[in-house]
Amino acid sequence: MQTLILATGNEHKVTEIREILNDPSIDIITAREAGVSDKLREDGNSFEDNALQKARAVYQATGKPSLADDSGLEVYFLNHRPGVRSARYAGDNATDEENNNKLLNELGALSFRRRTAKFCCVMAFVADGIEEIVEGECRGIILEQPRGTNGFGYDPLFKPDGYDRTFGEMAVSEKHKLSHRARALQKMKPVLEKYFRRI
Ligand code: IMP
Repeated sequence: MQTLILATGNEHKVTEIREILNDPSIDIITAREAGVSDKLREDGNSFEDNALQKARAVYQATGKPSLADDSGLEVYFLNHRPGVRSARYAGDNATDEENNNKLLNELGALSFRRRTAKFCCVMAFVADGIEEIVEGECRGIILEQPRGTNGFGYDPLFKPDGYDRTFGEMAVSEKHKLSHRARALQKMKPVLEKYFRRI
């Protein structure tokens, strides 16, 4: 069995990545399970910088192939904020609810036409002699009120284009067909398959 280490402490991301990859031949474990107890730094200015920083740190600590996800929400009216600060939008230890409330307050009663946004996900894979980066995005709008309790983060506020339900109202299997994370992982899959076939 091959081991892939996820360079994240976010349990929601771990669950989603395991479900989307759905590969019984790869044992997917977290950095903590691999013995990396330090908090992973993510102080870069872009999703790319942060993803690479996290994957490199875990690869250096373990010597094992590492995959990092850095993701967030970009709202056009807010000049692409919260962006890389999505997890800490309302403060360093903010809850999802606090972040969502801050976003709703900032958008106020803005018309739907001006509430356009996109989720972005950049994934970095680092292993011996390899550094690969892929990205995925999902466009939609931010509703005026949360709907649904599935998923995490901004899911209850985000309605993807072409759908009448938010990510928070969708079954996980449905979110995984169109999410930014699923799209990035679809691009990363061949990289992982090639790497694990080679070793
Ligand atoms: P990171 O750990 O810095 O990559 O933070 C990612 C943050 O972006 C999360 O804490 C959420 O606030 C937001 N985010 C990323 N992906 C999703 C998603 O799939 N649904 C909802 N929120 C997300």
